[in-house]
Amino acid sequence: MKKVRVNLIKKTDNSYDIIIGKDLFSAIADGLLKLNLNKIGIITDSNVKGLYGNNLLSLLKSMGLDAAMISFNAGEESKKRAVKERIEDALVSYSFGRDSLIIALGGGVVGDIAGFVASTFMRGIPYLQIPTTLLAMVDSSIGGKTGVDTPHGKNLIGTFYQPKRVFIDIGVLKSLPKEEMLNGIAEMIKHGVIADEKFFVFMEDYMDKVLSLDEQILIKAIEWCCIIKKKVVEADEREESGERKALNFGHTIGHAVEKASNYKIKHGNAVALGMLAETKISEEIGMINSFESKKIINLVKKAGFDEKLGDIEIGKIIENTGYDKKNIGGRVKYVLPRKVGKADIDVEVNEEIVAKVLGEMQ
Ligand SMILES: NC(=O)c1ccc[n+]([C@@H]2O[C@H](COP(=O)([O-])OP(=O)(O)OC[C@H]3O[C@@H](n4cnc5c(N)ncnc54)[C@H](O)[C@@H]3O)[C@@H](O)[C@H]2O)c1
Ligand SMILES: [Zn+2]
Repeated sequence: MKKVRVNLIKKTDNSYDIIIGKDLFSAIADGLLKLNLNKIGIITDSNVKGLYGNNLLSLLKSMGLDAAMISFNAGEESKKRAVKERIEDALVSYSFGRDSLIIALGGGVVGDIAGFVASTFMRGIPYLQIPTTLLAMVDSSIGGKTGVDTPHGKNLIGTFYQPKRVFIDIGVLKSLPKEEMLNGIAEMIKHGVIADEKFFVFMEDYMDKVLSLDEQILIKAIEWCCIIKKKVVEADEREESGERKALNFGHTIGHAVEKASNYKIKHGNAVALGMLAETKISEEIGMINSFESKKIINLVKKAGFDEKLGDIEIGKIIENTGYDKKNIGGRVKYVLPRKVGKADIDVEVNEEIVAKVLGEMQ
């Protein structure tokens, strides 16, 4: 018997910068000019294409860069394998190769699918994130989680693949509908609750200015969120040691509410309801005191989210959280706040307590 060992112990450096500012497209194009790329592929959706994609494409072309744009119908329904294949076929037909680069220009859907394409095309080519929704700016464009949904569930197929750089241009938020803004605001409140009391207080003080797109305040708030998110990612890039789980605060109930409403309730409002419920659950089991809990509840209210579940069936929500009738006591794990700025992961809560809290929110 012979043995040949393949030695692959190596240190890789996937570090990258997040640039935050306004009117960044020219600077991005200048930077690309220096990279000696064969081709640049802008991947975007049908809304962002007309709003910003065409401008970016013309700019790149006017500088002599060989760029193409590939777009798909806007919406979560496009985050699927069939669309990924279509994008890949287009890249092949345009003769993209290993010396090409992908730009993900859009919200989280574009970022997730374009990042996934980049991670497998020719076994991985570089990509940039240019997030255009608040949610993508403060959350999904950072951290390298890529993927698509399947009929069995969200984000079931994907990779960890970090972008080479993230460019956050707050100018694009002027066209973002209010309800999409609120999707980002929910994640921002979440960041404050799980990780940073000072940021939470900043959001208490400046919520109105963030919502009215005050430039300086918005840049400060987004930078702060990027710092919170990047720290979580640095500590647990591949969701192995647990830190990254904290980002699920508000999402166990939130996802269950979203599904129980047949996705009529938008992600941000569902997460807001989830944060309210999970904070009250934490109070119910004595993990957080009522003073701290009120602060969280008040900030969610200040952002203007609906606070009531309305006619959504509580039984459905509980079922969607994954409680198993055979499993008395339940084994669903929650991220629960201890105080503003600090949360515990993997907390098991009895179904009866969840039902009581949800009942009070009807
Ligand atoms: N990878 C991660 O770590 C991570 C984290 C959180 C969420 N996500 C994923 O992100 C996705 C949600 O992202 P999203 O909320 O950005 O949704 P989205 O990408 O669907 O964008 C929301 C809507 O806004 C439109 N839009 C985008 N930018 C705009 C602009 N500047 N002006 C006007 N309209 C604009 C889009 O066309 C779309 O209709 C989900 O699929 C979720 O799973 C990923
Ligand atoms: Zn979310």
